[in-house]
Amino acid sequence: MSFKLEDDVLPAYIYAPPLPPPRRRPRMVRLLVLALASYTLVRLWGLHLPWCHAPISRPANADKILAQCRALPVLPGPPAGFAERTESDRFEPDTPPTLIVNGTIWLGGERVVEGELYMDGGVIRAIGYVPKELYENEPGVVVVNAQGAWVTPGIVDLHSHLGVDSLPGLEGAADGNSLLGPVQPWLRSLDGLNTRDTAYTTSIAGGVTSALVLPGSANNIGGQAFMIKLRPTTERSSSAMVLEPPYGLWNGTDVDPEERLRWRHIKHACGENPARVYGQTRMDNVYRFRQAYTAAAALRDAQDAYCASALTGDWKQLVNQVFPYDLALEALVDVLRGKVKVNVHCYEAVDFDGFVRITNEFKFPVAAFHHAHEAYLVPDLLKKTWGGAPAIAMFATFARYKREAYRGSEFAPKILADEGIRVVMKSDHPMPENSRHLMFDAQQAYFYGLNASLALESVTSTPADAAGFAHRLGQLKVGHDADVVVWDSHPLQLGATPLQVYVDGIAQLSYAPKNVIDNGRTYLFLKEKQVEELQVVPPVADYEAEAREVLEYDGEPPLGPKEVHEGGVLFKNVQSIWQRDTSNELSEQTLGGKEPLSTGEVLVKNGNVICTGSCAHLAFSARVVDLRNGSIAPGLTTFGSAMGLAEIKFESSTADGYAYDLFSNNAPVILNGKALRAVDGIQFGGRDMLIAYRSGVTTAITAPARLEFEMLGLSGAFRTGAWNKAEKGSVIKPVTAMVIAIRHRDIQPSISAQVAGLRQLLSTSKEDEMWWDLAHGTLPLVISVESADIMSTLILLKQEIEAQFSSSMRLTFAGASEAWMLAKNIADADIGVIIAPSRPTPLEWEQKRTLPGVPLTDDSNISLLLAHNVTVGIGVVWEWQARNTRFDAIWAYREARGKITKRQALELASSSVNKLLGLGDPKLQVDLVAYQGGDFFSPGAKVVGILSADKGVTELL
Ligand SMILES: *[C@@H]1O[C@H](CO)[C@@H](O)[C@H](O)[C@H]1NC(C)=O
Ligand SMILES: *[C@@H]1O[C@H](CO)[C@@H](O)[C@H](O)[C@H]1NC(C)=O
Ligand SMILES: *[C@@H]1O[C@H](CO)[C@@H](O)[C@H](O)[C@H]1NC(C)=O
Ligand SMILES: *[C@@H]1O[C@H](CO)[C@@H](O)[C@H](O)[C@H]1NC(C)=O
Repeated sequence: MSFKLEDDVLPAYIYAPPLPPPRRRPRMVRLLVLALASYTLVRLWGLHLPWCHAPISRPANADKILAQCRALPVLPGPPAGFAERTESDRFEPDTPPTLIVNGTIWLGGERVVEGELYMDGGVIRAIGYVPKELYENEPGVVVVNAQGAWVTPGIVDLHSHLGVDSLPGLEGAADGNSLLGPVQPWLRSLDGLNTRDTAYTTSIAGGVTSALVLPGSANNIGGQAFMIKLRPTTERSSSAMVLEPPYGLWNGTDVDPEERLRWRHIKHACGENPARVYGQTRMDNVYRFRQAYTAAAALRDAQDAYCASALTGDWKQLVNQVFPYDLALEALVDVLRGKVKVNVHCYEAVDFDGFVRITNEFKFPVAAFHHAHEAYLVPDLLKKTWGGAPAIAMFATFARYKREAYRGSEFAPKILADEGIRVVMKSDHPMPENSRHLMFDAQQAYFYGLNASLALESVTSTPADAAGFAHRLGQLKVGHDADVVVWDSHPLQLGATPLQVYVDGIAQLSYAPKNVIDNGRTYLFLKEKQVEELQVVPPVADYEAEAREVLEYDGEPPLGPKEVHEGGVLFKNVQSIWQRDTSNELSEQTLGGKEPLSTGEVLVKNGNVICTGSCAHLAFSARVVDLRNGSIAPGLTTFGSAMGLAEIKFESSTADGYAYDLFSNNAPVILNGKALRAVDGIQFGGRDMLIAYRSGVTTAITAPARLEFEMLGLSGAFRTGAWNKAEKGSVIKPVTAMVIAIRHRDIQPSISAQVAGLRQLLSTSKEDEMWWDLAHGTLPLVISVESADIMSTLILLKQEIEAQFSSSMRLTFAGASEAWMLAKNIADADIGVIIAPSRPTPLEWEQKRTLPGVPLTDDSNISLLLAHNVTVGIGVVWEWQARNTRFDAIWAYREARGKITKRQALELASSSVNKLLGLGDPKLQVDLVAYQGGDFFSPGAKVVGILSADKGVTELL
């Protein structure tokens, strides 16, 4: 087998390595060297020329002082000749050179080349067509056939707490926030960088190769940040992970005044976080900055005055003086000298306004505003930042958890890009997002209007540039670090997963290669055969109107339906409809007859489907909606968050309040041991709820608190699109299940105490009690549980209770990170499982044995449990995540690599989750959702209508 490209398929771009140009110093430098040489000669020979008079009281360390002074105005940047390097400073000597052949190589923007990529010495040596001379005499070259797969640069995460907020989350490893004061520029995230974080491996499995590790946002000035590479190092130290460690980090004397400096990075924070932590206001926040920078500016001026004297040889002025220095302020002085990339956590217009004024007052630029939920509303203000608008580093859909995030919009990336502002998607790992899924944010930004090039750049070249590493990260370019990802599908496709990830040229994913021929070289085929239709940029819907509307309404657009029809609505160009068949199973009916790609019609009256196929003749005076090859599918159900119980999570006045936990023995006497009903506290019309509704999630089942926290109470099911409880059809079923948590929490009683309590309640229950219903399976019991050990205890408890009452309980485990370890036992015990969140993020110790899924394991939690015939649903943890339920189902389907069917994937978020939570009665009507521009499984398809037989209406969005 030959891997050489044939001449006729030579790529359009040839990126062979350029010959190194002849090394000639610039003319000015040559003159300077000459002048210095003559001066030194003159000094050595003791000749004193009139214009070179002997300095008065020249101190012994004058040369050191002069070097330090000359270095003051030097700005950071790559050393001369960096682009021509053939070996990286991070090269690990045993790394074999690697030639990737037949890749679809993304070069940034719209530039793509089909061909080869050669890495050696930890750097990219050639792209496109690789001249044979470059590798034919190299021993041990690994040749990897990408079989046409997409090849991109490694993902650069501009906002991460990897290593400082390590996973699993342990009290002994929470080093992200110092609470010793609001202004602490002297702190360094490097000093807390834990090499044992389990997330390095999982993030690499998502294609992340480098991350800017920032201190947390508890402080106005939280400290210095460092860019790290995520791979393990030979030295196994924190320092070895740091990319281009700033000079001076080791011994303070390693500054070479002739060399360009390296960038430093610092974290600042406006708004709520520092205000809450330090009991201060926004006024105090801005004063903190002003106070700190006033002191730093005074120190800088003192240094400048000192150096002005030194550089003019006026040593007399400096008698008894040392170079002005203050460890507490030196980092801020470097900010003022333009040597530090300033990263500011800042959300709201009022906070940008304050910080932008600070930058103009003290004249320093900002690398990026982070989180920045209102940035899209104030582009002109951002452009007033000293030095120009910073990059805006965002989440795609995480919003509304606090006031300053309330107006966050999924259209923000597109709106900002249209304003010419650079867009970065970032994780804030580990919370709220696992950086393993950072590409998911870029995908969502793309689905909501950011164009494909900018979406890919938002996690590669744009963050690399914002952090000052454009010379080596974020782009596939000759001379750049060999941080390369080979993807199983186009990276903007939901579920895209790396087949291989290289960091500094070192392959990070290990697998048994399919094909190894050893004739001095190793030939590898990547593990997965790519799914053809996922190799292209996914189609997207048009959200121009929605993006305009969010601006028009200043961040709070109306989210209800635009039209409500009781009468006929005719959906045309429908490719299929998913409905329950006679055996109450979901099945897909394709419309439009035998011809492939032909479509049919669906006629709806009073929210009921009354005709499918050819219906126009019945549709007299119906409202006609073109689904453009779309489809109709059951509305989805969300479970696991406090949906409906909290509008702004961190604002107690918007939330239901504390749900008493009867286990903790702190419930008031008035409750008399009675469980709470979540439905009594539900507030309708909330933005998370309506956005979920607009995303096809028509039902919410909520327990009295969030899945993550302790809770005990009765879940209820209601419609996300309803306006109040009195409205017809708003509450679907007031009590669906009993939900409790048995988890490791410091405020909880011990696991054995929790289990003892549950055993007591079930085993001593009397016929008219709720616990009797649970013991007898007339009411489902849902237990939020993560650990396999606790789950196995509960399996035994279930058997015990069933033996006592000769009953069969209906038990569901929710959360269930480690359920896969007991898949067979869970199946045998007829227990259901709701995996929540659907993609594993083992934040806690009790979740750490989760199944990570491809590319780390063949199976996922979902596919393995389904293979054992367990009824599996998926859920969420946060209210904002409900909107992504369809994406989660598509992800689960794609990740399973054919092991689960589309029907199973759809059931995960609809009929199965309903059944497990006590909403499985076939007599209950489930709303249907009309998707335009594709079927349920096309992520770019858009929800345009909700068909509700219960409410008797069709709502058009
Ligand atoms: C590249 O890979 C694609 C997809 O597997 C295949 O169709 C094509 O023949 C390959 N081309 C070369 C030159 O190997
Ligand atoms: C300081 O560190 C640099 C870089 O590690 C090293 O080259 C230099 O020798 C060190 N100097 C002293 C005085 O230890
Ligand atoms: C994406 O947007 C950028 C900035 O507006 C523009 O330069 C580029 O041409 C766009 N790309 C496509 C494919 O539309
Ligand atoms: C799951 O169910 C299918 C169909 O009923 C059956 O063929 C298969 O053996 C079952 N798998 C297990 C692991 O029980």
